[in-house]
Amino acid sequence: MGILLRNIRRLYQVAAGRERCKRGRAMQDAAVIEHAWLLAEDGLVTGLGPMAHLPADAVRHEQVDCSGRLVLPGFVDSHTHLVFPRTREQEFVDRIRGLSYEDIARRGGGILNSMQHCGEMSEEQLLEDGLRRAAEILRSGTTTVEIKSGYGLTLESELKLLRAARRIGELTPLNVRTTFLGAHAIPKAYQHDREAYIRLVCEQMLPAVMAENLADFIDVFCDIGFFTPEETETILRAGAAYGLPAKIHANELGISGGVEVGVKMQAYSVDHLERIGAAEISLLRDTDTVPVLLPSVAFFLGIPYAPARAMMEAGLPLALATDYNPGSSPGGSMPFVMSLACTQLRMLPEEALTACTLNGAFALRMSDRIGSLEPGKQADLILTHPADSISLLPYAYASNLVDRVMTRGSWV
Ligand code: NIG
Ligand code: FE
Repeated sequence: MGILLRNIRRLYQVAAGRERCKRGRAMQDAAVIEHAWLLAEDGLVTGLGPMAHLPADAVRHEQVDCSGRLVLPGFVDSHTHLVFPRTREQEFVDRIRGLSYEDIARRGGGILNSMQHCGEMSEEQLLEDGLRRAAEILRSGTTTVEIKSGYGLTLESELKLLRAARRIGELTPLNVRTTFLGAHAIPKAYQHDREAYIRLVCEQMLPAVMAENLADFIDVFCDIGFFTPEETETILRAGAAYGLPAKIHANELGISGGVEVGVKMQAYSVDHLERIGAAEISLLRDTDTVPVLLPSVAFFLGIPYAPARAMMEAGLPLALATDYNPGSSPGGSMPFVMSLACTQLRMLPEEALTACTLNGAFALRMSDRIGSLEPGKQADLILTHPADSISLLPYAYASNLVDRVMTRGSWV
């Protein structure tokens, strides 16, 4: 028996024509049906439409009255570091006192601080903390999450992080994709021999990760003070030899050259882009490399916000994600990211919704199955508390308006 959601105040399908993603102006159309029904059976959406056309036999299913409430696709958080060792609130206080993120990284804090913590924790402990965060993001409407390694920076610890991430996919209702980010920072021991660390990543970590099938993508932190575009290309080519598509951290700390490498390597996404100019924006045009914006990083670190409107005007398909991590974004709330997108990036609520669902799914190349509510796609959805339109979510920025969450046809 399936579950019939009926009398939905507004159903936001986000896409209704099987689009892989929505670009530019098309992001404003969230494919809304007023006073709607939706049927979920065997994990999939099997039907939907206006109540006036509800098929007579649909009422044999379990029914949920959704009067006055909205239904939308579950959020797709396409960029996180959800499995991380410990929080770093001392660095947060140091930044309040005047140090910058880069100052902290230069004195061995930041990612290298987390690397130290990671070495001290077992896979079980990492998993336990990760599961707590997974439960938290499910409550705020995330149904698909990408999780990166990158705090281990040794063979054993990178495997530990990725195994924990894979287990979160097995133990929770979340759809999980994992990314190998061995090139997140150069460990102290290799600071005078960067090439040796890059060889370790490509020749030892990567084969071991792939032998256990622990990663779906490969990522590099291509930024000022971290990895250069040339190093990034070397590492991504090593990943490509194993069939791993690329994702890149680019332009968080400066114009890094990461966008060029991303386009050249046909990366699925280039992420951050707090600093991006017209030339890089036009480079991304007419490619399938999705710019993933992470506005909670700009909020938390006090750096500039990405120029989302200019990017949409150029016809790009923007995605939004949380970057949940202990240094630059210690939170995994997609509704909060939506609020920042609307208040700081000046995205319309419908644009932000498209960026948090369909376009996030495309950044993971999963939009054939998730990211919109269409017959044949997974029944991953959010039922809100009473609301007239999607605009209430980013507006009521401190309220959790997510009432119930469904993944693959079952309530969480
Ligand atoms: O996406 N920029 C690189 N990596 C993370 C932050 C890592 C950290 O500070 O722990 C990010 O912002
Ligand atoms: Fe990140």
